Amino acid sequence: MPPSFTYTLCFILFSAFLSTGNGDFCEEITEGITFKRFLKMSHLHFYFHDILSGKNATAVRIAGPPNSTAYGFGSTVMIDDPLTEGPELTSKLVGRAQGLYAIASQHDISLLLVMNLVFLDGKYNRSSISILGRNPVFDDVREMPIVGGSGVFRSAHGYALAHTISFDYNTGDATVEYNVYVTHG
Ligand SMILES: *[C@@H]1O[C@H](CO)[C@@H](O)[C@H](O)[C@H]1NC(C)=O
Ligand SMILES: *[C@@H]1O[C@H](CO)[C@@H](O)[C@H](O)[C@H]1NC(C)=O
Ligand SMILES: *[C@@H]1O[C@H](CO)[C@@H](O)[C@H](O)[C@H]1NC(C)=O
Repeated sequence: MPPSFTYTLCFILFSAFLSTGNGDFCEEITEGITFKRFLKMSHLHFYFHDILSGKNATAVRIAGPPNSTAYGFGSTVMIDDPLTEGPELTSKLVGRAQGLYAIASQHDISLLLVMNLVFLDGKYNRSSISILGRNPVFDDVREMPIVGGSGVFRSAHGYALAHTISFDYNTGDATVEYNVYVTHG
């Protein structure tokens, strides 16, 4: 409801209350109005490849304290990670995860993850989903909120579930399975 409309309604109510001399200045009346919106729920399933090693690294440390701290607190990594249909890096590319993560805990390896998932396939081509959440990387399944989206995912909300299927302790390279449940317009 536009503000001017709300104002007008409040003014009318206010006038009515003035004349009867009881009640509040303005009462919430929106509960009597039903909004009908058609929302779609989509489930996306793909694999995220975080590659820190080699010539074709897709994740680069960009900031952090010069000396190592407990659990690498403060280390910040920028990513442009491929998203594939299957668990192998060579399987079909369906999108990319662009953004960054930082070690935001001094007590374990929990990341602040801020990223846009941009898709390449068919009707999802160039549409994106924005994620901002806490990612305690050694938990079996991490849940992260979807805070918005663009294109077919305009006004998106929902959640992403991340589950690591492989992790190389020497290089830090990881493959993570994602199940994303998103409601959009
Ligand atoms: C890097 O990517 C190029 C081009 O896709 C490929 O030929 C090369 O083998 C890759 N190198 C590594 C180390 O994966
Ligand atoms: C980092 O470690 C080096 C060598 O131990 C030391 O000289 C330096 O002062 C340390 N820097 C900070 C910011 O603690
Ligand atoms: C996605 O969109 C770009 C730019 O519009 C286009 O070049 C590309 O062919 C599209 N890809 C698919 C799979 O539709």
